[in-house]
Amino acid sequence: MIDMHTITLINGDGIGAEVIPCAEKVLVAMNLPLTLRYAEAGFSTFEKTGDALPPETINLCETSDAVLFGATQSPMEKVEGYISPILNLRQRFNLYANLRPAVSLSTETAGTRHVGRLHDQIDLLVVRENTEGMYSGRERVEDDGKVAILERVITAEASERITRVACKWATARRKHLTVVHKANVLKETCGLFRRVALATASVYPDLTVEEMLVDAAAMHLVQSPTRFDVIVTTNLFGDILSDLVAGLTGGLGLAPSANVGDGHMAVFEPVHGSAPDIAGQGIADPRATLLSVVMMLDYLDYTDDAERLRRVVYATPHTGNTVGTTDTIIAKL
Ligand code: IPM
Ligand code: MG
Repeated sequence: MIDMHTITLINGDGIGAEVIPCAEKVLVAMNLPLTLRYAEAGFSTFEKTGDALPPETINLCETSDAVLFGATQSPMEKVEGYISPILNLRQRFNLYANLRPAVSLSTETAGTRHVGRLHDQIDLLVVRENTEGMYSGRERVEDDGKVAILERVITAEASERITRVACKWATARRKHLTVVHKANVLKETCGLFRRVALATASVYPDLTVEEMLVDAAAMHLVQSPTRFDVIVTTNLFGDILSDLVAGLTGGLGLAPSANVGDGHMAVFEPVHGSAPDIAGQGIADPRATLLSVVMMLDYLDYTDDAERLRRVVYATPHTGNTVGTTDTIIAKL
């Protein structure tokens, strides 16, 4: 008998409330032994309760096998007491690896933006360190607000564990790893990341390992994305490069992600944000969320079901209607 898995669904803000229910509908249609339950988090939750990630939500996440997270609004200015719930979840559950695949679909399926690139067979994975770096939270102002300082924290431990994850994926894929950094300028922080990453990767004999400065990586990703297989990098570089590669393969409407650690629970989320410009119109592309469901099913070892859903999502264009696209996908499953 297959174990029952428990999944917590969190809409969050904006289009999160439109795409996550689509994931629920798909999971129910697939008839898997899953218990699904909803929890609240996000900026709207913060405005209502003063807490963007309430204790009940943390409890539900703690007792889940996986969490599917929609999106959350990130205000540009500091809001006293507000902590981004997704950053909070990553830190709290030590979900240190952020896996962000980018795969070319046919022009027909992906949509007509970035058509030039869509003819390339891009199939790469950005492995983003998820717990430190520029996201250390150690930011302060001095001199009456005229100077702002951020401490970028890089540790050998986090650099090693993220590289191990990247090496594991590269070994299972095309056996090529690119370590992306800026060690020529950030001599201590990126210097440490680079040294540890290269040393860690060197014990995987099957892998070809190269290193690349982040600015050069941005250019090569645009010019020759098919030369990449797995990229491992620090938190902010990974944040930026993962949006870049999403842009190469059809945009954020198709970009899924997984936040994983060594614990039992992992968080899956579309890379897109809350998209306030289109929220409430029912037009958001549900496929980034459904591809995040694919990653979740893979993680929970429903490998065949993951593959079934992946194929259908890859073969289904977005009609412009969130529920319509979801229903088409369900009908083809
Ligand atoms: C992402 C997002 C988040 C991040 C924001 C919403 C905090 O951009 O998941 O890439 O910066 O990590
Ligand atoms: Mg981002």
